Amino acid sequence: MSAKRESFGGRMAVIFAMAGSAIGLGNIWRFPYMVGEHGGSVFILVYIVATLLISLPVFVAEVVIGRRSNANPAFSRLSGGRRFWKVVGFLPILIPLVIASYYSVIGGWSLDYLFKSCTMTFSTTAPEDVSAIFDSFTSNGAEPVLMHLLFLLATVIVVAGGVKSGIEKFSKVTLPVLFVLIVAIAIYSICLPGAGEGVRYLVKPQLGELTPRTFAYAMGQSFYSLSLGMGAIITYGSYVSKKENILASSAGTAVSDLLFAILAGFAIMPAVFASGLEPGAGPGLIFRSVPYVFATMGANAPVVSTIVAVLFFLAVVVAAMTSCISLVEVGVAYLVEKFGMKRPLASALIFVLCGGAGVLCALNSTAFDRFDWLSSNILLLLMALLVVIFVGFVMKKEDVRDEITNSGSLKSAEKIFPLVYFLIRWVAPVAVVLIFISNFIL
Ligand code: TRP
Repeated sequence: MSAKRESFGGRMAVIFAMAGSAIGLGNIWRFPYMVGEHGGSVFILVYIVATLLISLPVFVAEVVIGRRSNANPAFSRLSGGRRFWKVVGFLPILIPLVIASYYSVIGGWSLDYLFKSCTMTFSTTAPEDVSAIFDSFTSNGAEPVLMHLLFLLATVIVVAGGVKSGIEKFSKVTLPVLFVLIVAIAIYSICLPGAGEGVRYLVKPQLGELTPRTFAYAMGQSFYSLSLGMGAIITYGSYVSKKENILASSAGTAVSDLLFAILAGFAIMPAVFASGLEPGAGPGLIFRSVPYVFATMGANAPVVSTIVAVLFFLAVVVAAMTSCISLVEVGVAYLVEKFGMKRPLASALIFVLCGGAGVLCALNSTAFDRFDWLSSNILLLLMALLVVIFVGFVMKKEDVRDEITNSGSLKSAEKIFPLVYFLIRWVAPVAVVLIFISNFIL
């Protein structure tokens, strides 16, 4: 079976696909409001440290599992059929599909906002009116459902195209475009009159804001942003060829993701401050305040700022798509391997499943917050814990070393292996357990 398996073509392709998965709504929609709610610059600092010391080793562990097992469900192959790991192996197939359902609903909102920006729906409206547009849109059943299905359809079409000619091709084109867009928007945003306050908010250390909650949320955010704990990276790891350097590809992905989140912060926060809006507006932040800011502010409003709004939501849609692709791919890969289905058929089946579940989500928007908390603060951590325990204690150390150093041929990887292994085996599990517990006592 493994002979038939596709793999990504080269290091950059791996990084593009993985960064495509990592960079998504988590960076543009979730990160800015997390920063706004949990201490601004201090949150960013903790987030950077957590990403490098904890999430990156977990990321490496997922790629190791994926590439080693070369299949899905990944755990069962490596565990020699032990029942516990067989059951656990199912979770990373099921949960991504649940996430994909609600993720594509927000993808649908973004798509709708892209259309709305194009028709200048937001220009010259007051902030309350922009908020009202959001409320009436999300409470109007048909429109969000339609947009959700449209977004999901576009996603599964790419997935149906295959690993190389669908996913890899799509992310190769979109990722560079995304970076250009976000840099341009950040520059525009920083140049708005009154933006200085927002920049200060992002860079000025306010240690008083540092609480145990900051750690818990920063880590949940970091896992979410790197697509960890849900099988997505395990599945992508199984498409990484044996020649690739796992450490280098993982680090490349983590750094791109970090960079993108920070750029998104600079694209959004200065604009929010410039318009006198609240940074801690929560999940509605980019849908309530950003359209107002971009569509009505700036010296050349509404023309230039409308273009900025269009580009912004275009970036959100594309980023969300490459992430949703990785969620859907987990289920598609499973159906293809387990039942020998053709990719297009498997993709269509997943479309029907996630489409249906998403319709329920689209009609009940209050479920989001709960679901978001459950998935990022509980399920992701739990799965991540199992991943590091599996690689750190269940797999043989020699096998892990073999994967990370490509059977000893990567000398630099050989040198830092002890550090990486220590982080996977001890630092990551302890940190995850502490954060997990803190979710309940804080
Ligand atoms: N990382 C993506 C984002 O930042 C979301 C995502 C994609 C994800 N695949 C995932 C989150 C798997 C958790 C698990 O938007």
